[in-house]
Parts: sequence; structure tokens; C-alpha cells
Amino acid sequence: MSEALATVSANGDGAVNPLRAGIASDRITDPCTIVFFGASGDLFKRMLLPAMYALRVRGILPNDFAIVGFSRSKYDDDAFRAYSKEQLDEFCPPDQRPQGAIWEDFERRISYITADFDNTKSYAALKKRLEQNDTELGTKGNRLFYLSTPPSVFPTIIEHLKHAGLNGGEHAEGWARIIIEKPFGTDLASARALQQTVDRVFRESEVYRIDHYLGKEPVQDIMALRFANTIFEPVWNRNYVESVQITAAEQLGVELRGGYYDNAGALRDMIQNHVMNLLALVAMEAPSGPDADAIRSEKFKVFSAIMPPTHDEVGSMSARGQYGAGQINGKPVQSYRDEPDVDPNSNTETFAAVKLHIDNWRWAGVPFYLRSGKRLAKKVSEIAVTFKPIPHRIYGERTDTIENNVLVMKIQPEEGVAMRFSAKVPGPKSHIRSVFMDFNYGTGFGVQSPPAYERLIGDAMRGDQTLFTRWDAVERAWEIVSPVLDVWENTKDFGFPNYPAGTQGPASARELFAEWRPL
Ligand code: BG6
Repeated sequence: MSEALATVSANGDGAVNPLRAGIASDRITDPCTIVFFGASGDLFKRMLLPAMYALRVRGILPNDFAIVGFSRSKYDDDAFRAYSKEQLDEFCPPDQRPQGAIWEDFERRISYITADFDNTKSYAALKKRLEQNDTELGTKGNRLFYLSTPPSVFPTIIEHLKHAGLNGGEHAEGWARIIIEKPFGTDLASARALQQTVDRVFRESEVYRIDHYLGKEPVQDIMALRFANTIFEPVWNRNYVESVQITAAEQLGVELRGGYYDNAGALRDMIQNHVMNLLALVAMEAPSGPDADAIRSEKFKVFSAIMPPTHDEVGSMSARGQYGAGQINGKPVQSYRDEPDVDPNSNTETFAAVKLHIDNWRWAGVPFYLRSGKRLAKKVSEIAVTFKPIPHRIYGERTDTIENNVLVMKIQPEEGVAMRFSAKVPGPKSHIRSVFMDFNYGTGFGVQSPPAYERLIGDAMRGDQTLFTRWDAVERAWEIVSPVLDVWENTKDFGFPNYPAGTQGPASARELFAEWRPL
């Protein structure tokens, strides 16, 4: 394979754009095979396979790599290659569709094992295939296992990997790493049980617990904003900040995932992982350096300083909701209880909000409000830091409201940072109005952020754990949400459904916090 072919841009765009200065495509050096457990599933075809192909098109994959699909559906290698091409045709952006020499090289590196997750023969076949890849495709004994199966089979797969001697260790020729999809457990006890299995087979340095929010560029920029600038840190504390609100709102309903979601709910599905990770990034102290454990230790410290609510406090520190029928973008949509595979009397929340306090020197007394829900008025993920009001008013007409400064870190769909501040309205009177300074990544850098999975798979291949959640933080996040889960599970909400699809969520969310930013 020639270097030119390996790094060619799929759209042939060779023009130099000054905004792109500093944006490099870093080729991964270690060869390896990635084994996708659950390769016939939805995540693989929509996200993981397109991410692999994009990494190849952009010249980031090492020259010697291989992909093995390992799943229940029956395919031979050729049929799986054809299936992969169909999925890439459907799910890749037009400039990254499989074609030409890049696709031919990619295709021959794909193979498939029709497997029974609990049968040693399947793992013997996998071992043989990995050895074959080492000799024929130069993958040098390096293995990255990606678990994207239903979580119930995670322990089975992990135990079998050990039994088959595929879990690396000191005597192995290359390295072995494992990426584990969320959810990591369904509550504190099950997460601990899963971790015990993981501990028996892999070292923490080999375990990559994925949270795709951490792979989103604007999420990574939270640390850059805070620690590569001087102006924010001095005011980033209880003396200046009044409250912090973190939102992950979706317009989508549960789609075809009712079976999973009805046993999960918004608190497990979004708050315990994605939203808590955002909270950690916004509240942590500056790490001593850029390495993975320095950063992850600071994130863990934030969680350690959050006292889980007592069962008695849950009522006043949380709000929950479930969507009824309503309208999204002017089109009628059905209620949650009418979605496929959902119990028609379901008490599962599709909206969750919690108020947390971080009991440390920096944040004592500052409430952090977290909310997430499905079928809300719009899709938006953001963190808004609201600063305290001005101490003394000397400006503006009496009827003017002087609003607090707000710094908004916009994660999606807009990606950027906005600052609300007060300005004088032009004219002879001294009217004051809020205006925004608005930075947008797309226009600022002239590129679109790569999808999160591309970044995360690439990092796992490089052996960089920074954007993956360490066990101590996962465990602590479960400890924090556990009392809310307990109380909600044991007390039915007779008001469900309590918000129509396409709205701001339940009224109880406003009772928890009146100043949510409108969706
Ligand atoms: C997943 C949840 O982790 O994140 C889904 O299981 C949710 O229910 C999704 O829809 C949201 O991700 P994003 O990137 O669209 O905000």
C-alpha cells in the first residue's frame, strides 16, 4: 500500500485552509485486529463500521489492521463483506462511501465468525482467525475487543476470552485491550459484579469503558476553554457562579429500543453516564498534567465530593416525567406507552432532572441542575454557567431587566461557546439589553467535528484512556444516582404521562428549578 493511497482525502480536497492550522491527522502506529462482538447489531452498522472506514479514508488507521465481526447472525466472510459495504453505502457521508482502492484494501481485511457467545468453539475459531491475521495481515498479536452486544452477555464474553487465552497478559506477544459499551451495569450492585469479572481478566490499563459524549469535540473543549485560557478560571467558583445547568435533550422517542429503554429510563440511560461526565469536566480542578490518570483522578474527586441524596431528599432534589402523545416538528407522535416493546402501563421515566451539590471549597452552595429527556421540544446538549447578578445597579432604565451573565458551552447540534452579557441599546436613552458573543467551531476552524466514535476507537487503538471512564468514577456515579433510582422504582408516579411530546418536559422540572433555559 502506498503512502499516498493511505492518506488520500476521500474528496480529494488538497487546498490549504488557514483556519485548519494545527488540525493534523495522526496515523496510529501499532498494527492490530479489532474484534467487534455484536457485529450484526445496530450500533455496528450505524456507528462503528462507518467510524472504522472514516479512520481508514482519513489515513489514521495503521497500515496493518484487520476487523473481525463476531456475532450470532450467520455470514461467511464474503457475505459479511457485502453486508458491510451495504451498510457503509447507507450510513457514510457521500464523500466517504466505499469505493476504489481504499475499499478493496479495507474489504480484504474484514472477516466474520458466526458465533455462539457461550461456546468455547467460537472462541477457538476466533483465536485461529487472530493468529491468521497476525501472519497474513501483519497485526502482530495486538487485539482490541469491542463489546457492543446486549450487556447481559458481557461477563460471558469476558470469561471466554480468558479461557481462550486471548486476554493478553505478560507473556502475550502483543497487547490486548477491551472496549466496553454502556451501560456498565444497570445499578450499583450489577456494575460491581461486572467489574469483578473484568478484574479477573483484564488490568484497568487495558479496559476502555466508552461514553460517546467524551468523544464529542465540544466536550473535549470544555477542558481547553477552562485550562488554556486565563479569563475563566478566576470566576469559576462559588464567589461568582450562581448555578450550573446541564441539559441533554432529544426530540427522538425510544424508536425501536423500547425493550431496552423500558428497563432503563432516562436516569440510567443518560444522567448516570453522559451528563455526569459533563458535570465532572465542568467542575473538576486543573489536572497536574495532560495524562489520562491525572485527568481521570480529578474527575473522580468531583464525584467523591457529591453527597448522594438521602431517600427523604429525593423528592425535593429530582423530577421525573414520561411523554404522552404530542407533536414533533408539527407531526403527531404517539405516547411512550404506545411505543413498540413498551409496557402499556409503564412507569419508566423518559425525562429525569436532578439537583446536586458538590461539597468542596470551590463549589460549596452552588447548585448543579442536570436534565435529560426524550421527545422534548428540540435536540440540544449544553452546559450553562450562570453568574451572580451585579452587586449594585447604576445603569439602565428602571424598566430594564439586567440579566445575569451566562456562559453556554454548546455541545450539539450547535458546537461552540456563547457568552451572554448586557449592552446598551443604541439611542439617546440608556436602555440595557442582553446580547451574545457567539463562537462556532465550524466557522472558527473551517472543519466539521469528526463523529465521536472515530475519535474514541482511534484513541483505544493508540492506548490513550483519557476519554474513557475509569472504574472508580463509574462506581461513584452509580452511588450518586442510586437513591433516586430506588425511590423512583418503589413509588409509582400516577401522573404519568405528564408531558406531551414536543414540549419542555414535566411541570415538576420547573418546580425543581424555575430557570431552565428554554428548549
Ligand atoms: C445513548 C442513549 O447513549 O445516547 C440513547 O442510550 C440516546 O438513548 C443517545 O439517544 C444520545 O446520543 P447523542 O449523541 O445523540 O446525544
